[in-house]
Amino acid sequence: MSTTLAPKQRLGCRTSTSAQPQSTDPSTATPLTYFRGRVALAAILRGLGIGPGDEVVVQAFTCVAVPEGVMATGAKPVYADIAADSFNIDPESLARAITPATRAVVAQHTFGMPAEMPRIMEIANHAGLPVVEDCCHDMGTTIDGQPIGSFGVASFNSFEWGKPVVAGLGGEAVVSDAELRRRLEAEYANYTFPSRKKQLQLELQYAAFGVLYRPQWYWQVRSAFHQLGRLGAVAGNFRSAEESQEVSPEFSLRMSQRMTRRAIKGQQQLADIRQYSRKITNAYRQAIDSQCVQHPSLPAAPDTYFARYPLRVADKPRLLAEARRQRIELAEWYRTVIHPLEGDELRAVGYEPGSCPQAERRAGEIVSLPTHRRTPDDFPHRAAELLNQH
Ligand SMILES: Cc1ncc(COP(=O)(O)O)c(C=O)c1O
Repeated sequence: MSTTLAPKQRLGCRTSTSAQPQSTDPSTATPLTYFRGRVALAAILRGLGIGPGDEVVVQAFTCVAVPEGVMATGAKPVYADIAADSFNIDPESLARAITPATRAVVAQHTFGMPAEMPRIMEIANHAGLPVVEDCCHDMGTTIDGQPIGSFGVASFNSFEWGKPVVAGLGGEAVVSDAELRRRLEAEYANYTFPSRKKQLQLELQYAAFGVLYRPQWYWQVRSAFHQLGRLGAVAGNFRSAEESQEVSPEFSLRMSQRMTRRAIKGQQQLADIRQYSRKITNAYRQAIDSQCVQHPSLPAAPDTYFARYPLRVADKPRLLAEARRQRIELAEWYRTVIHPLEGDELRAVGYEPGSCPQAERRAGEIVSLPTHRRTPDDFPHRAAELLNQH
């Protein structure tokens, strides 16, 4: 068994930390892959014995998939705000969100930027709560040499279209606590593979993604994807707030074998994916220089790899409209505090509008640039031309 703490490795083989009690032997662990990342989250929470009447603290400035994963267990998501200078949970807001009904904390590493894990662990340990890390955007970030994802009892990944490793659709639970892992493995027998028809649909979607997705076609592909998603012709990422009230049958599905194989292959290329992201990120940091654009501030110790490069901008709607006109990939998420829900829809997932002001402000000012390997070398220059005129 390896004892070295290396950044994200192949599926099921993330090394655990010495801080974890009774860690599993990663060399023998088989991947616990599920239909989506949120299904993996729900599986972990169920494994922790979480259900109706329980609360799970998650951050605002997230995707509806996260509260959906919590609600699939019957538990209630409770929202903590993000920190003033970050896209991740504010530890002090987390401390205030904990009640006698809290059973777990989800720490999200947004865009691959590390949450303040030492402080989060301190608060959670003090309250006797397990921490589950949301590593859906992680491609190998470390804090003082320790990989994110290895601080809590478990973490989960996603392999859908916008993530560092794209397998089509899917998610993985990486569990370092031996007892918890045994419980997930026992439960895994009850999860079934998607129907053949569904698998075929996902394979066609994956093939179409491979052919069509280029940064210059981002806006057209995105609108086509959303339209087809509304018609039910492709598997979209989001359900409506109303639909999220019902537990989707997807919460009892595994990831298909073909997609799991693809994800394993993708994970083996993470070192290259990281290096490419680093190169593109450095180019953005050098080329984008406008008073109306704020780069993310990087704390001293973490070694951060960005799944997307986030910028806070003064006039988000105008910039997005201009990016669309110039065919420059610029993402808007998270467009709302629990993306993509708005207004009263937020209450349907337990969010009270106005309760997390930092997160709401961030949703109004965030845009992000691609760092994946399809990003051409001259793209940072084009993006800078757009942003520097902002
Ligand atoms: C931070 C975060 N967590 C979890 C998820 C859920 O992933 P999935 O769509 O595979 O359920 C997403 C993605 O949509 C995400 O952005």
